[in-house]
Amino acid sequence: MDGKYTFSIIKPNAVRTGKTGPILSMINEGGFEISAIKMVQMTIQQAEAFYEVHRGKPFYDDLVEFMTSGPVIVLILRHDNAVNEFRRLLGATDPEKAEQGTVRKNFGVSVKMNAIHGSDSDENAIRESNFFFSEIERYC
Ligand code: CDP
Ligand code: MG
Repeated sequence: MDGKYTFSIIKPNAVRTGKTGPILSMINEGGFEISAIKMVQMTIQQAEAFYEVHRGKPFYDDLVEFMTSGPVIVLILRHDNAVNEFRRLLGATDPEKAEQGTVRKNFGVSVKMNAIHGSDSDENAIRESNFFFSEIERYC
C-alpha cells in the first residue's frame, strides 16, 4: 500500500436502489482496478469503529444507523495516486455541490446518502482496507 491503493464503500442507498453496477462501471472507466471486493452488512459496533474519527459529531449516530441499514459493497482499488484521484471521481461530500460527471453527482441523494465512500489519506486507506479485508482476499 504505497499510494497505489484506496478503499471505498458503495453505501446502502446505492446498493438498495440497484446502482452497484453503474457505480462499478464509473470506477472501471475512471481507470481504477479492483483489487478486492465483497458485500457485507456492518453491525452497529463495526460502523461505529469504522467512523471512529467522526464520533461526537452531530451526524455520527445517523451516519452509523444509515451505514448499517443494509448491505454495502466494500472495495480496495488500485490506481496511481489512488486516494486523490478517487476523491476527484467521487466529487464533493454534498452531492448538490459535486461536479458534473462525478459519482456523488450522479447517484448521491443527500449529504448523508451520498452513495459512496473514499479514503481521505494513504494512512486511512490502509487502516480501512485492513478493517474489511484479509491478505488472501486481495489481488493485484
Ligand atoms: O465522505 P467524505 O470524506 O467526503 O466526508 P466526511 O466529512 O468524512 O463525512 C463522512 C460521511 O458522513 C459523509 O460521506 C456523509 O455520508 C456523512 N456526513 C453527514 O451525514 N452529514 C454531514 N454533515 C457530513 C457528513
Ligand atoms: Mg471522510
